Amino acid sequence: MHNVLITGGAGYIGSHVALEFLNAGYGVAVLDNFSNSDAKTVETLSELSGKVVDLHQIDIRDQAALNTLFQSHKFEGVIHCAGLKAVGESVELPLKYYDNNVTGTLCLLRAMGKANVTNIVFSSSATIYGKPQYLPMDESHPQSPINPYGNTKLMVEWILQDLENGGGAMRSAILRYFNPAGAHKSGRLGERPKGTPANLVPFISQVASGQREALNVWGNDYDTADGTGVRDYIHILDLANAHLKAFQHITAKDVSVLLNIGTGLGYSVLDVVKAFEAASGKTLAVNMSARRPGDVATYLAKVDLAQEVIGWKAKYGLKDMCEDQWRWERSDV
Ligand code: NAD
Ligand code: UFG
Repeated sequence: MHNVLITGGAGYIGSHVALEFLNAGYGVAVLDNFSNSDAKTVETLSELSGKVVDLHQIDIRDQAALNTLFQSHKFEGVIHCAGLKAVGESVELPLKYYDNNVTGTLCLLRAMGKANVTNIVFSSSATIYGKPQYLPMDESHPQSPINPYGNTKLMVEWILQDLENGGGAMRSAILRYFNPAGAHKSGRLGERPKGTPANLVPFISQVASGQREALNVWGNDYDTADGTGVRDYIHILDLANAHLKAFQHITAKDVSVLLNIGTGLGYSVLDVVKAFEAASGKTLAVNMSARRPGDVATYLAKVDLAQEVIGWKAKYGLKDMCEDQWRWERSDV
């Protein structure tokens, strides 16, 4: 059996990726320190897939524990989703982010190297592009992150590229996600942010469920059709499938890839509000507020390369993202 290790596999993206690999017949080991997740999610993965998930509570910065794990298991590759992702916190506490996201990845890569595991899929982010120079942004768009979180993502991209350019055997799939949203169709896997959600869809979802009074729309004076920020939202199930396709491609062809993962379609904050109202049957209160520092008017992916290279294209749209998020919001998981 082909076995993969999914770091951050108890988190929002990692759990959906784990289920995608389980359903495709892979043996899946999940590694997580549960700093932003719960072991219960891994039980749900077993229930949904009907398969055993090998769980390891390890911090990716624990070199000894990682070395032991890689020596005692035979992994075909690693899907590396573990990481801290709060942009604002990264500005306040940059060293926490460099340590977790960069040092942690170095430990992982050392353990992989020692065990001769040469395939890795990495959770990068469209945030590495910084302020858009042109739209939609392709993979060659200049890279200029504007916060420490984005810097950590770009640094890891460089490390992975250096490992390959140096003539090593490492093959990577660097996936630059645009705006992940939605939940699993079962209503049993999704994202439950701790505290106030920073991201739009989880926030709207909590307004619809009555946990929050109103959505603050951060700016309605942008140069967009309705003045509110436009983003490329990508369904979590499509995103999970991109990891499987990318992994199968790099292992079968012995190559590396670097791909945007989005839909190529842009929706404004008010478009998302409308779609969520339709999905939930609720009317959502909104307050027009000042722009959020660091935000841009529009972020949009050019997605042709993923289709050309790994044969992947998003199947789901905004309606599914809102309906699936709403099902998850109302579930008691
Ligand atoms: P998440 O917080 O739900 O999942 C991350 C998981 O990694 C959590 O389960 C957390 O406990 C674990 N983790 C963090 N540090 C760890 C460490 N040192 N050792 C072991 N486990 C650790 O976040 P997510 O949304 O699932 O994001 C997954 C990855 O995708 C992250 O690397 C994130 O930066 C990246 N990403 C996310 C988005 C997004 O909008 N959600 C966008 C672009 C990129
Ligand atoms: N927004 C609001 N009100 C809110 C939350 C968000 O109006 O309460 C707006 C934002 O101003 C933006 C849009 O909704 O126009 C989307 O905001 P998110 O915070 O959901 O997403 P971002 O595009 O700001 O950031 C996300 C991830 C980052 C990642 C980035 C780039 O959170 O980690 O996409 O892909 F780096």
